[in-house]
Amino acid sequence: MNTEAGMQESDLAIVILAAGKGTRLKSRRPKVLHEIGGKPLLSYVLAAASRVVAPKHIYVVVGHQAERVRDAVKSTGVQFIEQAEQHGTGHAIQCAAQAVKGYENILVLSGDVPLIQSGTIEKLWAFHHKREASMTILTAEPPDPTGYGRIVRASSNVVQAIVEEKDLRPDQRKIPEINSGIYAFRTAPLLEHINSLSPKNAQSELYLTDMARLLEQSSGHKVLAFPADNAAEVLGANTLAELAVLDQTLRAATAERLMAEGVTIFRPDTCVIDAEVEVAPDTVIEPFVQLLGKTKIGGDCLVRSYSVLENCTLGDEVQVMQHCVMVETVVHRGAIIGPFARLRQGTELGENVHIGNFVETKKAVLGKGAKANHLSYLGDTEIGDGSNIGAGSITCNYDGVNKMRTIIGKRVFVGSDSTLVAPITIEDGAYIGAGSCITKDVPAGSLAVGRARQVTKEGWADARRERQKQTNNGAKR
Ligand code: UD1
Ligand code: MG
Repeated sequence: MNTEAGMQESDLAIVILAAGKGTRLKSRRPKVLHEIGGKPLLSYVLAAASRVVAPKHIYVVVGHQAERVRDAVKSTGVQFIEQAEQHGTGHAIQCAAQAVKGYENILVLSGDVPLIQSGTIEKLWAFHHKREASMTILTAEPPDPTGYGRIVRASSNVVQAIVEEKDLRPDQRKIPEINSGIYAFRTAPLLEHINSLSPKNAQSELYLTDMARLLEQSSGHKVLAFPADNAAEVLGANTLAELAVLDQTLRAATAERLMAEGVTIFRPDTCVIDAEVEVAPDTVIEPFVQLLGKTKIGGDCLVRSYSVLENCTLGDEVQVMQHCVMVETVVHRGAIIGPFARLRQGTELGENVHIGNFVETKKAVLGKGAKANHLSYLGDTEIGDGSNIGAGSITCNYDGVNKMRTIIGKRVFVGSDSTLVAPITIEDGAYIGAGSCITKDVPAGSLAVGRARQVTKEGWADARRERQKQTNNGAKR
């Protein structure tokens, strides 16, 4: 909370409006759970709010698919208010009245305005408090004000009314200043007038925006506008096109943050980098890379084009070649992966491991310097330091019912095209002959070969060709 304002904790609550359906998105998913930067809209608003007040003073108004919205954010410890039927933003505040009446002031944030920064909320709050306003509206002048409520000013800072886009008179269409949907209120006058809202408007809803006119008209109340420094922070997400713009803005900011921290990103506009991704200096990210979720990448790494990493942790000096798909994978220093590798959840690669093309791993832990360079499936397995898995080798981990483990010791050599039928253990230093199907444990230092013995019949092929030639000549005659 802004200490300059000298307020007590109980003086301020934040109400976040998140009950709406999001009709314009034409989606089954509630609007505030649509994502930008890999996270739901509401989670950004909550993060900004909880930098201003403690979670117990944050009240989220839920209604449309309330359970789903609640489940998505309840771990933050915030409070919820039910707005069972959604009759507009003013009605949402009517539903919140009982819960917030004990606070001297409330800030109202919109669950669909996700780029708002806590610093801006604090500035709005400080301005509102210092100027002793009854209502202060955070406003902005974006390049295109279409769709937003417009601010009708009486004099310099004093607001006469907010007029919704659908209710604008032709002469009001030119007004460049929009309502961000973010406000500070003194609670007493807000709650005193909140039941006077009327649904006589284009959408037959109770508009919270009408509080500007109601308070302005009742004596002794100041309604002020506080312009945001950066209009991009207060843009709303009402359509998929607007969501795409916000997503792009956020990702550009994430890429800029990483570049400022010493990460080289070629063509950042082609990369999809989620908001929480971390990358250490001197790492190079090539075009068309996706870094998703909580992916964390060390320094001096290279992530080449078309690779997608989701919730992965990479140490320093790791190289991910082109076209790798990696999910929930941990990679230690110096490993080289791909091109065209698929590393699934539970994979852990030790230092200097090499995973080559068309290798799939799942719950596979490979020790230092182990290698699987071509065409393998390694699932539910542990592979010791320095072991080499030949091209085309497969851990047969599934019998149609259960998944079973393959344990491979250190410095084991698995010849190409071998199948290891789990559960099975290949002890340290063992050799598996190429093309083997191994079904029994192999002791340390031994050779196991599980394939038909080779038979060579000298001259057989030449004799066959000769026989065919004679048969063909006979047929022609
Ligand atoms: C609102 C403002 C508009 C402003 C814009 C800024 C009103 C009437 N209009 O319009 O002046 O320019 O935000 O983005 O307030 N909600 C509820 N309960 C409801 C209805 C909505 O909780 O009954 C929630 C929605 O989930 C959303 C927020 O309130 O998070 C705003 O509602 P929305 O329908 O998006 O309003 P806008 O048309 O964008
Ligand atoms: Mg909106």
